Amino acid sequence: MRAINDLRDRMIVALDVPTVREAYHLVTRLGDGASFYKIGYRLAFAGGLSLAEELTREGKKVFLDLKLHDIGNTVREGVESLGRMDLAFLTVHAYPQTMRGAVEGRGAGRTRLLAVTALTSYDDDDLHDAGYRLAVQELVALRAQQARTAGIDGIVCSAAEAGIVRAAIGEGMCIVTPGIRPAGADSGDQKRTLTPAEAIRAGVDHMVIGRPIIRAVDPRAAAGAIMDEIAQAS
Ligand code: C5P
Repeated sequence: MRAINDLRDRMIVALDVPTVREAYHLVTRLGDGASFYKIGYRLAFAGGLSLAEELTREGKKVFLDLKLHDIGNTVREGVESLGRMDLAFLTVHAYPQTMRGAVEGRGAGRTRLLAVTALTSYDDDDLHDAGYRLAVQELVALRAQQARTAGIDGIVCSAAEAGIVRAAIGEGMCIVTPGIRPAGADSGDQKRTLTPAEAIRAGVDHMVIGRPIIRAVDPRAAAGAIMDEIAQAS
């Protein structure tokens, strides 16, 4: 299930731009140098759902990062509606009811569901403030196990948590990680970054990469260099 036929699918380019026009321009510049794109809130709520369908029609894979969370029934209905889009990945928060609803809504569809265990902007104090009694790493491990039980296909986590997550989910589910920076790149606001090669060695299946590609003077060359590093480490 974790076998990746096209090595390019390991690199997911985050289309973190405000308009569909800019996103499409970027996709065109990347050409066949990238096969997988992530669309988050900003673009999704600015015409990005239609773009997602168009990219899928053109043979690209799309990761729709909506981090859904609601009562199980509402999540099920929402995921059912998204089924027609034939997404590659869709995110939900890793609450058991939410995950069960998403798995039901996906039914026999091809969309692979990813669960977000604990938002990486939360530390132990933030969780305590939010009423949790578990530390971040305990919550991540618990929710990763619950994701497995619910029938979720993969986990989104920071590279720092990849080991804990892999121990909790076993070999069948995939791990998707942001916070990747090629050697020498500006880490920006990402705190604990890994290089693409380190991420592969940490057991990451797919890495989400935004600014190092989309803000590069030559995005295609930047993506190519990252792919070379991934290929060498794979
Ligand atoms: O530009 P950069 O490579 O940092 O982009 C990473 C992408 O992954 C962005 O779309 C960002 O929202 C997302 N992300 C993240 N850190 C997390 C979760 C998601 O950077 N902990």
